[in-house]
Amino acid sequence: MDKIQINGGRKLYGEVSISGAKNAALPLIASAILVNGKTRFTNVPDLMDIKSIKLLLEDLGATCQSSQGVLEIDGAHIHKIEAEYDLVRKMRASILVLGPLVARFGHAKVSMPGGCAIGARPVNMHLSGLEALGAEITMDHGYIEAKASRLIGNEIYFDTPTVTGTENLMMAASLAKGTSVLRNAAREPEIVALADALNNMGARISGAGTAIITVEGVQNLSSSEIAVIPDRIETGTFMVAAAATGGDVLIKDCEPEHLGSIISKLKAAGAEILTYPDSIRVMGKDPIHSVDIKTVPYPGFPTDMQAQFMALMTIADGNSVIHESIFENRFIHANELLRLGADISISSGNLAMVRGVKKLQGAPVMASDLRASASLVIAGLVAEGTTVISRVYHMDRGYEFIEKNSHNWTPISFESKKIPDMR
Ligand code: EPZ
Repeated sequence: MDKIQINGGRKLYGEVSISGAKNAALPLIASAILVNGKTRFTNVPDLMDIKSIKLLLEDLGATCQSSQGVLEIDGAHIHKIEAEYDLVRKMRASILVLGPLVARFGHAKVSMPGGCAIGARPVNMHLSGLEALGAEITMDHGYIEAKASRLIGNEIYFDTPTVTGTENLMMAASLAKGTSVLRNAAREPEIVALADALNNMGARISGAGTAIITVEGVQNLSSSEIAVIPDRIETGTFMVAAAATGGDVLIKDCEPEHLGSIISKLKAAGAEILTYPDSIRVMGKDPIHSVDIKTVPYPGFPTDMQAQFMALMTIADGNSVIHESIFENRFIHANELLRLGADISISSGNLAMVRGVKKLQGAPVMASDLRASASLVIAGLVAEGTTVISRVYHMDRGYEFIEKNSHNWTPISFESKKIPDMR
């Protein structure tokens, strides 16, 4: 898909079902490399990034069979330890095969993932962590090479919490000799989901979800069936869309527990939010109050929701300050929001001042990355007139047919009937 046309100025009403989380599925699929046999995943989202990592695993010799959200991977016949540039450049998260390959085969060659629109995206902490486990790391013509006859458990201290760094090293340590302790580890729900999956396969991991994760290495891991957790960022995106349009949306098959910071900020912005065991109802209210946010590691406000929340703040009743503390260049969407009539100024690269305006006007805009495209969709829904968003292939990387989801919504006219009380 390359363009989305949005006829804005309408409230969103209805129900939407959330798919499996992209950022949970990617490390889970990489973990199948650790198993000399089959691993079965359910609730796998249908996304470009999932197709990319499947292609990568097949290139290594794994077999991948998928249908209707179920993915079965057989790692028994992996015969190659090199993740090539052409495959890695399509998706930086390919770095997640590095730890599993060197842990199981004692050798891995992975193309340097390189940066992306939002930042340089270094992987130094991944590499220093593997060195701490005894791997010999060399760089050669754009490739990372890691060698170790067998990884040895050790203490690993992250300078800052890194999500895929924690995931890579948790997977590597699972097959190391002895115990490893990961300190200042990332605490995201996707980390907990990966630890649960690895423990299902026979690993011995404790502390996932806290800053200190202990991994007792084992000889091998075995086949297992794993369900991918709901996508908290997709959930948050639909929550912000409902609040921004003043609509009333029931978001189903999600995990409200993972959305504490987003619920808190949307309530401060004036939205009414009802939470149920596996769904959230969001009712947008006028006026939208301006709210300051700072993106920080989980359980704080997620950087992957910053662009979407900025779109909401463009029509708030005052000024809001948005501090992006995770990535160095994650305000690209601001320039496109200006084209829709927003009033935003960026200072010192990671602070944005958003002055609320009465309304946005539709215009042609261009997406630059996955979450920026979601921000422009939200702004287009709010804007009066037509907005055409180009380069929305970024959207395909992380959202299952967002426009289809909107068609799939059950248009409940809430004025006439309430959602059944599911308490
Ligand atoms: C994961 O990226 C997510 N991707 C990102 O989602 C998300 O924005 C990010 O975590 C932060 O929550 C996946 O899970 C596939 P980090 P990751 O390592 O792991 C610095 C999306 O839109 N750093 O937690 O690459 C880094 O530069 C994507 O779905 C180092 O300096 O992010 C950043 O400033 C975008 N050295 C900070 O740490 C390292 O070795 C956090 O990055 C690693 C990271």
